[in-house]
Amino acid sequence: MKNSMSRRQFILAAGALAGSAVLAGCGGSSTSSSSTSTSTDSSSSSASSSDDSYTLVKDGTLTVAAELGFAPFEYMNDQTGDPEGFDVDVINAIADKLGLQCEYLPNQKFDTLVPLIKQGGKADVSIAAITITDTREESVDFSEPYLDSNQAIVALKGSTETEETLNDASKKVVCQSGTTGNDWITENLPNATCVPTDDVTPALTGVSTGSYNAMVVDLPVAKYMLTNSFSDLDIIEEIATGEQYGIAISKDNPNLTKAVNKALEDMKSDGTMDSIETKWFGSTI
Ligand code: ARG
Repeated sequence: MKNSMSRRQFILAAGALAGSAVLAGCGGSSTSSSSTSTSTDSSSSSASSSDDSYTLVKDGTLTVAAELGFAPFEYMNDQTGDPEGFDVDVINAIADKLGLQCEYLPNQKFDTLVPLIKQGGKADVSIAAITITDTREESVDFSEPYLDSNQAIVALKGSTETEETLNDASKKVVCQSGTTGNDWITENLPNATCVPTDDVTPALTGVSTGSYNAMVVDLPVAKYMLTNSFSDLDIIEEIATGEQYGIAISKDNPNLTKAVNKALEDMKSDGTMDSIETKWFGSTI
């Protein structure tokens, strides 16, 4: 583990020097931690004098925390050792607009991301297909939503399971720990045996091999994983939860949230968002 982490960090550093790697593709060379946004808010926690300034863990760099096993939003490219995905493109484009370089922390467990941002000092933002929820908003601020999402129940192809049959103690329903899928099971399948796990791919493998009867996971991830890796699995139900993904930022850094929102707004109007959506989903959403 140590080795692979340090190898990736090396690659990040090398990529930043070469200016060519995805993660170094933000194009900014600014060493300032001041926003160039036109924010009028004056409530900055930063020691800096400028009203719209925000703080950064590392000067000139947007440090990103994510759980990197959630394709097509974020996953490790085993060949390059770099994160890739929809969210990776979004945060790189945001960093680009802010004149910053992106750097990802090593892979984090999903249920540690909000606490990590709340605690501060390690990462400036977390983008990880994180659904904006009231509970999470008690701990962190979120950017404006950047994508709509729903949940899916995944089971073996030809399975006769339904929401009703799964709601039984003899049925194991797996999910990623701390996700909205986890919450959905607790609330809607109270009799089922809910199995929270760290990683999505082994969980789906467990559904494939019969260790679990079903998995509840974000619909776009279910679609992507079933198309690309799990042809023996099916989406047996789409659950219209009406979720929205947002970027988590510390409550102590309100001007960073403002700057990120401004960048997102620009990306929506200048076509950047459309092209990232088309790249990963084949069309705009
Ligand atoms: N949208 C869901 C949630 O916020 C799942 C997100 C999981 N993301 C990840 N990178 N593993 O709870």
